[in-house]
Amino acid sequence: MRTVITFGTFDVFHVGHLRVIERAAALGDRLVVGVSADELNLRKKGRAPVFSQAERLEIVAALRAVDEVFVEESLELKRQYVTEHRADVLVMGDDWAGRFDELKDACEVVYLPRTPAISTTALIEKISSTG
Ligand code: CTP
Repeated sequence: MRTVITFGTFDVFHVGHLRVIERAAALGDRLVVGVSADELNLRKKGRAPVFSQAERLEIVAALRAVDEVFVEESLELKRQYVTEHRADVLVMGDDWAGRFDELKDACEVVYLPRTPAISTTALIEKISSTG
């Protein structure tokens, strides 16, 4: 059993999120997703997410490719989450390339290319500007 773990906010869920999740799942037998807490998102991105953590967890958990979800409370706890969930592979989008290489002693670390031209931030801006 090869367990893959990935993390994200997954706010205003879009096709870039779906693709990274599906590609992460394809790297193993079981996919665990850490969905960032509202509080973490506020600290990390300087704004509250559009959808609450309960809603974001519910959406991600409903995906066929996802076996388990949990709330990611802190960016600093990646090693603990990898251990707790017995992850063999950590997958991150390549916007994080190199940032988690220190975990290579605990698991395989894979950075996947982002889907071009879509992001939650761009979607929020686009929707806000079409008054
Ligand atoms: N992701 C991706 N392709 C995109 C957007 C996101 O592969 N076009 C991936 C990220 O690399 C990450 C995961 O989806 O692994 C969750 O990213 P998240 O930060 O929640 O989404 P973004 O759309 O990047 O959000 P924001 O614009 O708020 O930074």
